[in-house]
Amino acid sequence: MLAQHFYNWRAPSAPEKSILCVGLELENIAEWPSHCEAHTTPQEQQEAGRYVHIEDAARHLAGRALARRLLRAAFGQDSAAEFARSPYGKPFCPGVSADFSISHSGSMIWVALCRCAGVGIDVERIRPLPDAAELTSQLHPQEQKDLLSLPPAELQTAFYRCWTRKEAVIKAVGMGLSMPLQSFSVNTGPQESGWIASFTANPAQGTATMLDEGGQWTSRDIRTTDGYLCSVAAQSPCRDVVVCLAC
Ligand SMILES: CC(C)(COP(=O)(O)OP(=O)(O)OC[C@H]1O[C@@H](n2cnc3c(N)ncnc32)[C@H](O)[C@@H]1OP(=O)(O)O)[C@@H](O)C(=O)NCCC(=O)NCCS
Repeated sequence: MLAQHFYNWRAPSAPEKSILCVGLELENIAEWPSHCEAHTTPQEQQEAGRYVHIEDAARHLAGRALARRLLRAAFGQDSAAEFARSPYGKPFCPGVSADFSISHSGSMIWVALCRCAGVGIDVERIRPLPDAAELTSQLHPQEQKDLLSLPPAELQTAFYRCWTRKEAVIKAVGMGLSMPLQSFSVNTGPQESGWIASFTANPAQGTATMLDEGGQWTSRDIRTTDGYLCSVAAQSPCRDVVVCLAC
């Protein structure tokens, strides 16, 4: 989407019991910061001003603007004035009973909104990853085993698939880098939904407890623009996932 079309774009409203996922591809990315002013706060614009590269500022502002537009479509124009951040850095909207998650990579922005549970979304642009085999040592042992059993030609895509799925879970929990990557595992194969596989008991970190208490999750991959992978996870079972790619 060109930045000048964003103002008149009609944001979809989140269905009550579903997870709404909206993607935005930023065309002419350097033009986005000025067109996001109507949907971002002075504080967000100040934060964006600290980025060295205009592309990073554009991604930050467009993500916040898209999240705000989805919240306002669901909860009214007066909502989502200012976002706060949790102690781990996850943005939330005080006074609104819904969770949202923002992700950006390359020229893609994705936002997930869920009224009934913590939600996380992650998009990654696929770039050459010559050290994919070495990076698997950071993952859960089962994920590492599954990935290293693949032919080299399939390893890179499978690694990114595993990565976006794990990031989606981490972002739904909201703990960021404080959540050990080995405390849970995802399936690394191409099945598009239900890919959360196991949680390792780790009371010291509290993560297993948090994941277990949530019972089952909803987890799904989202088909997006070629060259990107995207996944969403929410701490509530059997939710419909409504996907909208704005263009
Ligand atoms: C923020 C984090 C959760 C993800 O960052 P990322 O994938 O590099 O970047 P994304 O664009 O997907 O997400 C950034 C957005 O996440 C949101 N975010 C920040 N902290 C968050 C947290 N603790 N929980 C959920 N969302 C968070 C913010 O909205 C941020 O964008 P903004 O500051 O412009 O609003 C980061 O802590 C992280 O990278 N954690 C895991 C790292 C890792 O080892 N991953 C390997 C998985 S195999």
